[in-house]
Amino acid sequence: MDDKQLIIQLREQLHTHNYNYYVLNSPTISDHEFDDLMHRLEDLEQKHPDMYDANSPTQRVGSDISQEFPTVRHTRPMLSLANTYSLDEVRDFYQRTSNSLNGQPFRICAELKYDGLSISLHYQKGRLIRAVTRGDGLQGDDVTGNVRTIRTIPLVLNGSVPDEFEIRGEILMPWNSFERLNRERAEAEEELFANPRNAASGTLKSKDARIVSHRGLDAYLYYLLGDDIPGDGHYQRMQTARRWGFNVSNDIKLCDTLQDVWDYITYWDTHRKELPVATDGIVLKVDSLAQQRALGMTAKNPRWAIAYKFQAEQAVTTLREVTFQVGRTGVVTPVANMDPVLLSGTMVHRATLHNQDVMQGFDLHVGDKVRIEKGGEIIPKIVDIDHETTDTQHRGDGIRFITHCPVCGTPLQRNPEEASTFCPNDQECTPQILGKIEHFVSRKAMNINLIGTELINSYFNDGIIHDAADLYYMHHDAKVQQSVEASKQVPFERVLFAIGIRFVGEIAAKSLARKYQNIDNLSQASMESLLETDGIGQVIATSVYTYLRNERNITLINRLRQAGLQFQLNETQLVSHSTVLDGQTIVISGVFAHHSRDEYKHIIEQNGGKNSSSVSAMTSFILAGDNMGPAKLEKATRLGIRIVSEQEFLDMLR
Ligand code: IVH
Repeated sequence: MDDKQLIIQLREQLHTHNYNYYVLNSPTISDHEFDDLMHRLEDLEQKHPDMYDANSPTQRVGSDISQEFPTVRHTRPMLSLANTYSLDEVRDFYQRTSNSLNGQPFRICAELKYDGLSISLHYQKGRLIRAVTRGDGLQGDDVTGNVRTIRTIPLVLNGSVPDEFEIRGEILMPWNSFERLNRERAEAEEELFANPRNAASGTLKSKDARIVSHRGLDAYLYYLLGDDIPGDGHYQRMQTARRWGFNVSNDIKLCDTLQDVWDYITYWDTHRKELPVATDGIVLKVDSLAQQRALGMTAKNPRWAIAYKFQAEQAVTTLREVTFQVGRTGVVTPVANMDPVLLSGTMVHRATLHNQDVMQGFDLHVGDKVRIEKGGEIIPKIVDIDHETTDTQHRGDGIRFITHCPVCGTPLQRNPEEASTFCPNDQECTPQILGKIEHFVSRKAMNINLIGTELINSYFNDGIIHDAADLYYMHHDAKVQQSVEASKQVPFERVLFAIGIRFVGEIAAKSLARKYQNIDNLSQASMESLLETDGIGQVIATSVYTYLRNERNITLINRLRQAGLQFQLNETQLVSHSTVLDGQTIVISGVFAHHSRDEYKHIIEQNGGKNSSSVSAMTSFILAGDNMGPAKLEKATRLGIRIVSEQEFLDMLR
């Protein structure tokens, strides 16, 4: 068998193993064997770039090429469902359906209502071609590149499937991925996601498909649309979809009577807590498609379905105190401390009050009975004061937000457009100093993993360290020393992230590092120049500009530099960014083997060129793939514009 046949065979095998693992939950090989197959395929694909296929299982890892999300119209509008919290309304729905169908027998397909974000997937000839978010229901974002990295979404389908169809479902972040992500974010002192839905949606909109690939998103599919789909029953069609390779919930159920519906609701109201993903209710659908058509739609929703939403769990307890936490960046968060109470299976005694405005909105007093809730959120929140049990006549003064830092006593500040109140004493306020050092050593920054919170605290308390640079000028145990030494090879962009300039996250740091290439250029950059950097707005630019003009920060940077940290891009990073295409305007046309069109656009910009969509006398050359548009070809020939093949172009950059 030659390499190319082997590639095809490996792809088929891996697709099947993915299906066994993610959809059927019954893998037939070990993770190790799976990884081996994947590595073999990766190696072969690297050797044969002409065999590139966006739907290859290897593409699940995504690429870091920044993507834009074009807005596209939905082929069929994405409607939402009528919602209710009331069982009476569920009964009405059942009765109304029966009446509208003139007493014909009908069945209801009962499903869980998954709490994520809805997605529409389009397949052609058994292959995923497009994935679009719901958007406003009429048009959404084309997020195909990101969706391809989600392992439960099949890229290539099993068996004979209709030539063309659409399937809709929900993209979710399972609880365990959500908790892992928030743990990592807490470690890096990044803002936490409030619930798995926000985390899933933030992830899916990420410009970097590699991030999506790592976050462990999942998907359940629940609605097939298309002209040639076999079967008249929704339930039956879902079973068919499962055989094609889709992750269809095993918990969907056909109900013959209203009692069956009640049983389903009662069962899942408690058992949903055991599911690996968040659900917020039950969806009831008339099973027969013929009956669905007969029932039709209102202006907004189908008449053949309804969503019953579960009440979020609530509890009432007594407020004892509001404390204020100072974070790494100096942001002050009010926290309600309450008498412990059982909520959704865990004892709760603290709830976040988010910020000054949210806290003041409640007008809290010590001794108030507060109603707390844990909806999709993992951190409980205060919903309101329970006025029935609170003695509002005899309470003392309302709790006020503090005016001075609870740690260092500095007067707090607040920027007019921001919700957060912060302590501006970033150089001397202990949690800010410690937080900065913790951030500096964290995994995504310098990754000095042997130095943790406790060690930092004890070094600081013993007066051994005052800032991150001190770590490089002190004595460590041999093993710790090794990881400190290793950190000197961490690339510039991560060093830039590590020093903890306010608002400069990983993405901004990367963008700044790439543009300015070293710290000296960055230090000299004007506000105008900073503002012209990819992804850098007023807030980040101001923060960078002021940071680099502060004496203490300059000293810190100099000491780190002296210690041998990377304050410039390395050789390889420099070559992927050149001026080879300076002053050239390039038109891309056709289909390419090695990179996508978007990737080529990015490559052109990274090498100094400009992209243009139309051929004119200003065009320097056309980067032409297969099937270049005939109109462009004709115009190019007429104007005598050079046509450059994909290979020639790649050679130009080398
Ligand atoms: S069916 C026309 N089934 O809930 C019917 N939706 O407002 C299309 N959802 O936008 C939707 N689980 O995002 C359906 N099993 C399920 C669902 C479900 C969650 C979401 C979906 C939809 C919203 C309903």
